[in-house]
Amino acid sequence: MIAGGDVARPAPHRGHLVLVGLMGVGKSTVGRLLAERLGRRFVDTDTVVEERAGASVREIFTERGEEAFRDLESEVLRDVLATTEPLVVAAAGGAVVREQNRAELRRRAGRVVWLRADPALLAQRVKAGGHRPLVDENPEETLRRLDLEREPAYREVADAVVSVDGRTVQEVVEAVLR
Ligand code: S3P
Repeated sequence: MIAGGDVARPAPHRGHLVLVGLMGVGKSTVGRLLAERLGRRFVDTDTVVEERAGASVREIFTERGEEAFRDLESEVLRDVLATTEPLVVAAAGGAVVREQNRAELRRRAGRVVWLRADPALLAQRVKAGGHRPLVDENPEETLRRLDLEREPAYREVADAVVSVDGRTVQEVVEAVLR
């Protein structure tokens, strides 16, 4: 567990580099660039969920409900983390909500980096109608609530926290690598 700011503790072992954080913080964009820099494959858990389900995240939420989505998400996270090849992983924003997933992250991810931003910035970035049905209405208010609710969960799994506010994507990549 860590306090705040850009701080890090020594890597426990080589393994996956996992990005966690709220919707819109840039996990996929930053993750792709990190994967290029590290010569690793990039995996986005939402993409794997969609491939497995043969349906979009939005369709899963609407047709099967959030719990069904969380079941799939947990299954995907477990399988991705069980991959022996070291990956760069973007773990969807809600992946830390279940205790079982946090345990998997602590046990099997080499390094977990929590990307953080002011919910007001996140609200500007998330677009309506995409793969984020939770922010269809009142995005800023919802993101503020999720930020408060999930903060302890992100903190519990994070080896490092990197602030995204006022930084370019490239600067965030450099901060994560440091
Ligand atoms: C969610 C985050 C989304 C997606 C779904 C739910 C969440 O992924 O899994 O809309 O609960 O935070 P991103 O974090 O990749 O946007």
